[in-house]
Amino acid sequence: MRLRIKSCCFPSRPEGVRRWAALALALALLSGCGGKRREDSSLRLGVALYSQDDTFISIMAKDLEQLVQEEESRIGQKITLLVSDSRHNQTTQMGQVDRFLARGCDVLCINMVDRTGAAVIVDKAEAEGTPVIFFNRQPVDEDIRRWEKSFYVGASAQESGALQGQLVLDAWQADPARWDRSGDGVLQYVMLEGEPGHQDSLLRTEYSIMAITNGGVEVERLARDTANWNRAQAAARMMQWIETFGDQIEVILSNNDDMALGAIDALSETGRPLEDWPMIVGIDATAPALEAVEAGQLYGTVLNDSRGQAQAILKLALALYNGEDPAGAVELEESHYVWLPYRQVTRENLSGFLETS
Ligand code: GAL
Repeated sequence: MRLRIKSCCFPSRPEGVRRWAALALALALLSGCGGKRREDSSLRLGVALYSQDDTFISIMAKDLEQLVQEEESRIGQKITLLVSDSRHNQTTQMGQVDRFLARGCDVLCINMVDRTGAAVIVDKAEAEGTPVIFFNRQPVDEDIRRWEKSFYVGASAQESGALQGQLVLDAWQADPARWDRSGDGVLQYVMLEGEPGHQDSLLRTEYSIMAITNGGVEVERLARDTANWNRAQAAARMMQWIETFGDQIEVILSNNDDMALGAIDALSETGRPLEDWPMIVGIDATAPALEAVEAGQLYGTVLNDSRGQAQAILKLALALYNGEDPAGAVELEESHYVWLPYRQVTRENLSGFLETS
């Protein structure tokens, strides 16, 4: 857009007018009008990740990098990606946002540490005229709606929970002799939960169980605890539960794949034969989880479409940068939201996912 102003207006004007126009443009750039202090024409994206150690988030960041490279060669123009790791600290993230704005980023892509802190970021972005796209950790709706150029790209937490619960229900009903080890008709389970307060933890926990009970199966929760999306923490919890409950555990529901893999680590440690393992289900469909599905250790998972989400972020960012209507670039709901669908994965349909992962 800035380039268009320069090339279409200046050459046709007399010298004096041209100088004034150049001065006005320079002042506009310096005053932060439109938040742009740079004069180069490449799109600059500032991406703040809540934690680079999180498996799913690091996959999403790689997907975004790859898509940016593909887009650069398609349009023959440079796109600069500035990526920061907020290391679980919202104050650190605020500093990173300030630096992105000071460095003239054209669009901010924010994976909040604390989802309740988005209002400040929206206000800072609006003051600079820099659009902001939140992703993965959904801010409070009224914060997103503070400004027309504030967006959220993600996937519905309820949907992932419901699909996971449906996987369990279908398997249980198809082969009760295999899964109902006690033969009492009640599904005894443990729940490995993600970070406390995160929508994906709360809603996956709630909706997975709701899908099972709505399907007419009675459940009994033996234990639940957070393992903060983390494989090692989940393995430690699971070791304790195996000691306490032994083979009473019939199903292990995990809010994500990394924690399901932690449960697998703990079960492998016991040396128990695979045919005696409880049913284990996760969410994300990361590469190691798909391998575990192939090996028969993980009964199933639910694809959290990292590439689809990264693609939506990039399309939205490009549209905003070019001053185009974002609704023309992505499927925008309620003017602010882009939702990507989840998909169930089991051994039956695994081959399709292995090819693309
Ligand atoms: C979830 C994902 C988890 C974790 C979390 C971080 O959507 O399933 O594995 O990455 O986001 O916010």
